[in-house]
Amino acid sequence: MTKTRSIIRGVGAYLPEKILTNAELAKMVDTSDEWIQQRVGIKERHIAAEGQFTSDLAVAAAQQALDAAGMTPHDIDLIIVATTTPDYTFPAAATLVQMKLGMHHGMAFDLQAVCSGFVYAVATADSYLQNGLASRALVIGAETFSRLLDWTDRGTCVLFGDGAGAVIMERVEIADGAPDRGVLASALRSDGHHWDKLYVDGGPSSTKGVGHVRMQGPEVFRHAVGKITDVVYDTLDKAGYTVDDLDWFVPHQANRRIIDGAGAKLGLPPEKVVITVDRHANTSAASVPLALSVAVADGRIKEGDLVMLEAMGGGFTWGASLIRW
Ligand code: UT7
Repeated sequence: MTKTRSIIRGVGAYLPEKILTNAELAKMVDTSDEWIQQRVGIKERHIAAEGQFTSDLAVAAAQQALDAAGMTPHDIDLIIVATTTPDYTFPAAATLVQMKLGMHHGMAFDLQAVCSGFVYAVATADSYLQNGLASRALVIGAETFSRLLDWTDRGTCVLFGDGAGAVIMERVEIADGAPDRGVLASALRSDGHHWDKLYVDGGPSSTKGVGHVRMQGPEVFRHAVGKITDVVYDTLDKAGYTVDDLDWFVPHQANRRIIDGAGAKLGLPPEKVVITVDRHANTSAASVPLALSVAVADGRIKEGDLVMLEAMGGGFTWGASLIRW
């Protein structure tokens, strides 16, 4: 008897060159470096250049992930791009990534679950691989969230940044007695009753325009820690593990205080929590794979480690995925 698992073969990331500091933001809106650092934990964020689109960021991260996996686009038969900021209303950014990678084969689609998009995409790719619909997936979280910001609204414009992260997932059969690896369990949730607590006030069917991010920050904050910890416990339960078994917690990077709150509620030692919100800000669907890429590149996450990914965002949507690296 063997067990089918989706294993992570490579991780990649891309951050646009331009860095926007809190001090620069303080010249644009009534805010301060002190307020942003104290209330959110952000020091700086990256902003995509004029003419640089989400699919460009996604391709750069994808190429790094392919290199890390020792694969070429030829090896991939599924591309999922988790994004809320596609280049065009359609086609999916994923098909543009497919084209830019020179692929004519396989399937590609976008997944829209806002900040939870990457965790949703990992769980979705895992299902496709488990069911035999694909063998090797390129799963990307990519955003040019700066394009959705109202740069006069200090309540939102200081919080977000642009970037992309990617992983390669491969279906493997694990023989009885061999060490278990790959995605062990995922849990996904949503509750649309909270849609207007964090949303964009435009879209093709409503205003026929793009719109800007609108957020009732304290309301989102109020729900965040409870929803994150619930879904983490669900995921651990499904896989038969406890918080003590975790080597690394890679949370969505929205606010340092939310991450610290969730870590404390779970009883996780702070040194097991990967933090990048200070340098990346909230990059929505890109935040978890960007954080993952940092912790893999600096050698913290190693083969055999038990890693919990988690995210929560607009919808509300939230979810977690437990991976044996
Ligand atoms: O990724 C999706 C998930 N998103 C989130 O998880 C975001 C969740 N929410 C948050 O992280 C926090 O609610 C914020 C960071 C958005 C806001 O922090 P807060 O501690 O909840 O602040 P607040 O909105 O209650 O505002 C406190 C004060 C207000 O002033 P008064 O009314 O007390 O005088 C705000 O007007 O801070 C003021 N304020 C600011 N001051 C300086 C709000 N934004 C700013 C700012 N600079 N950028």
